Amino acid sequence: MFKLTTFLIVIIAFNYSYQLKPNVLLIIVDDLRPSLGVYGDKNARTPNIDTLAKKSAVFTNVFAQQALCAPSRNSFLTSRRPDSLHLYDFYSYWRDAVGNFTTIPQLFKENGYYTHSIGKVFHPGISSNFTDDSEYSWSQTPYHPPTEKYTNDKVCVTRNGLAQNLLCPVIVDEQPGGSLPDVQSLRAAKDFLRYHKQITALPYFLAVGFHKPHIPLRFPIEYLSRYTLSGTKVHTFITVGYHPFENVKIPLNHFHSSGLPNVAWNPWTDIRERDDIKALNISFPFGTISDYTIKRIVQHYNSAVTYVDDLIGELLQSIDKNTIVVILGDHGWSMGEHGEFSKFSNFDIATKVPLIISTPGAISVQKTIPQLVELVDLFPTLVDLTKVTNGLERCLADGSNSKLCTEGKSLVPLIFSKSEDVSEKTAVFTQYPRPGEYPTLKPNSDKPHLKDINIMGYSIRTNQYRYTEWVGFDHRNFSIDWNKVFGQELYDHNLDPNENMNLVTRPEMNEMINFLRKKLRLGWRYI
Ligand SMILES: *[C@@H]1O[C@H](CO)[C@@H](O)[C@H](O)[C@H]1NC(C)=O
Ligand SMILES: *[C@@H]1O[C@H](CO)[C@@H](O)[C@H](O)[C@H]1NC(C)=O
Ligand SMILES: *[C@@H]1O[C@H](CO)[C@@H](O)[C@H](O)[C@H]1NC(C)=O
Ligand SMILES: *[C@@H]1O[C@H](CO)[C@@H](O)[C@H](O)[C@H]1NC(C)=O
Repeated sequence: MFKLTTFLIVIIAFNYSYQLKPNVLLIIVDDLRPSLGVYGDKNARTPNIDTLAKKSAVFTNVFAQQALCAPSRNSFLTSRRPDSLHLYDFYSYWRDAVGNFTTIPQLFKENGYYTHSIGKVFHPGISSNFTDDSEYSWSQTPYHPPTEKYTNDKVCVTRNGLAQNLLCPVIVDEQPGGSLPDVQSLRAAKDFLRYHKQITALPYFLAVGFHKPHIPLRFPIEYLSRYTLSGTKVHTFITVGYHPFENVKIPLNHFHSSGLPNVAWNPWTDIRERDDIKALNISFPFGTISDYTIKRIVQHYNSAVTYVDDLIGELLQSIDKNTIVVILGDHGWSMGEHGEFSKFSNFDIATKVPLIISTPGAISVQKTIPQLVELVDLFPTLVDLTKVTNGLERCLADGSNSKLCTEGKSLVPLIFSKSEDVSEKTAVFTQYPRPGEYPTLKPNSDKPHLKDINIMGYSIRTNQYRYTEWVGFDHRNFSIDWNKVFGQELYDHNLDPNENMNLVTRPEMNEMINFLRKKLRLGWRYI
């Protein structure tokens, strides 16, 4: 009898200790720049995320390491920079190509968590070995919404029939499969949250990757307008209203910045390929889009964001109290700023992302954190918040084979201390590759394959400046030739927060340029 009691106590204690570990819900929103109410965007209508933010740490200066899905995701999911993963495109898998590096979900899985992936978490395809790195990172087969396969089909209704448009508001019931990918991912996530206790007693690490507002901007038409194309009123299930065209504000700097080197220009090839934009016959690579169309793009992007915000609101209602929630974008997105669209650059608009972290019971009012941070900081932060293991070591200079280390820095001191007491990063880093100095369609200079990369744009952002240097890069051995310079950019954020005026030719800036160039070459280890 005594023995049985002891046994029961041990079991209860065992369960209890697991109960204390918080769950983690990581929400990754594809191509989401900080176009959210909480970040002060006047076009945004995001009441659900804004409500979560009221009890969260809200980081307002967060930068992705490269403004492209696969490199950014692999970077923050392993806490290593693109140069350490040798991954700047969609076409290699780091475990085969570089090193057997541990991912965030993998560490949680190896340390008493049940991990699950829904939607786009890892970039699908080669870069996650066609399995979302399943064998290592996830406790069960990742879920992908079945209707995602229709995304690039002709599914947008126009007056002239179906098209592959950029702007694609839809009537959900009439879409192939009768649903949309993110609606299906939400259902899968809610099912997981409802039933996981029947599968496992472990705490969960659930990653949900929403596909919108990535292009095509396909979302329920209710978010845009109260009326369908045929003029009938649609049933609206949203409470926050829609996005009337006349209220939309377009960016002031919707022009090609003066002094921008050609190598820095991203010709938004992904946008041009869509039928509605193709029909505008815009010359390549520097042709402009009319204010009217920019306004429509902004309207549709923000409608897609409101749609995802609604889905996130519903998801957050399904979690229990003891859950850490993280919401982030994988990189930014330009909607006319600099006369550009999409990502594929080193500008703030392409690299800056929202990052909101809510930790159970710890934060009761919004804490806005303006210090410079990077997405590689997420991994050590989650480790420190959950104590899933002891804190992560910094990766050594020659530590490329170390399975577990970080090239970031835990944000926990910023979250919990008075900011004056915390040592902050004095600079953060991003990079972007190009095949050549002039924008091209073949090879696609927005998304060059590794074998075509000959130039790398290295960018350092301090509180006051962004300095970018486009230099020679050898894709065979990943060596950088700092003596071959194809372009330089310097922006002073105190005078020019939208990065419109390249100051690199101003003699009075020489001293600053030399200082920043030195820091850029030394890199993140010396910050
Ligand atoms: C990637 O997938 C292939 C084919 O399934 C498999 O043989 C290989 O071992 C995987 N790579 C790693 C590092 O697991
Ligand atoms: C990679 O690491 C995992 C776990 O950390 C291990 O199971 C696997 O055997 C390793 N693979 C190789 C090829 O070293
Ligand atoms: C597209 O623009 C080019 C010049 O930029 C012009 O030569 C061509 O005729 C135009 N095509 C159409 C279909 O308007
Ligand atoms: C990289 O490869 C190129 C061409 O083979 C060679 O010229 C260069 O010296 C190499 N750089 C390094 C650092 O090995």
